[in-house]
Amino acid sequence: MALVITVAQQKGGTGKTTLAAHLAAAYAGDGQRVALLDIDPQRSLARWHALREARRESRPPGPPAIAFADTTGWRLAATIDRLRREHDLVLIDSPPQIDTDARLAIRAADLVLVPIQPSPPDLWAAEGTLALAAAERRPLRLVLNRAPAAGRLRAAIEADLAARALPRAEAVLGNRIAFANAFAAGLGVTEAAPRGQAAAELRALAAELKEIAA
Ligand SMILES: Nc1ncnc2c1ncn2[C@@H]1O[C@H](COP(=O)(O)OP(=O)(O)O)[C@@H](O)[C@H]1O
Ligand SMILES: [Mg+2]
Repeated sequence: MALVITVAQQKGGTGKTTLAAHLAAAYAGDGQRVALLDIDPQRSLARWHALREARRESRPPGPPAIAFADTTGWRLAATIDRLRREHDLVLIDSPPQIDTDARLAIRAADLVLVPIQPSPPDLWAAEGTLALAAAERRPLRLVLNRAPAAGRLRAAIEADLAARALPRAEAVLGNRIAFANAFAAGLGVTEAAPRGQAAAELRALAAELKEIAA
């Protein structure tokens, strides 16, 4: 049975799709059977996956295969069950709102990831997801994304998270163009720039999440 990780956050542009894609590529590179499920009508993860498939066809063998589904609505629960049976890891990317599909994806998750850029509005926007995950008793980690190495805003957010005892991943992703570049090529950063800082951050996060969810 696969581990299900759902990436959720009601604010757009915080890094949900980025996290789902790069984590999927990193885990697939470790030889795991990975499936992605895109329940966001914007379908950016679907576009990334299509680029990846095109790459695998034009220059075989290309990056390792990742299964993909974009089922929503009444068939979603059955799709999650099927993906769970057939893979080691299922990553679900969700829309910037808590609709019926997102609720179901959070309920099905072994771990919920909530990316926030280190600024108060991102944390405020995460509160609905935090409340829902708590109500569903789902383990959750906030993931600091596009974080500066240091600085007053990051320190303030980190202090705020600690004061409110909000669970966060130790690993932090910086604001790095390598994430966007790899994404645009249908790759994960661990594939496109494996020796870079972005890949090191992503690998640290992937390893930490595996530990948490194990
Ligand atoms: N750590 C990062 N460094 C640089 N750019 C990032 C990073 N995370 C996300 N981005 C960029 O921010 C934008 C929004 O990210 P995305 O993952 O699509 O957010 P969401 O899915 O939450 O709406 C994208 O253009 C993406 O490339
Ligand atoms: Mg998205």
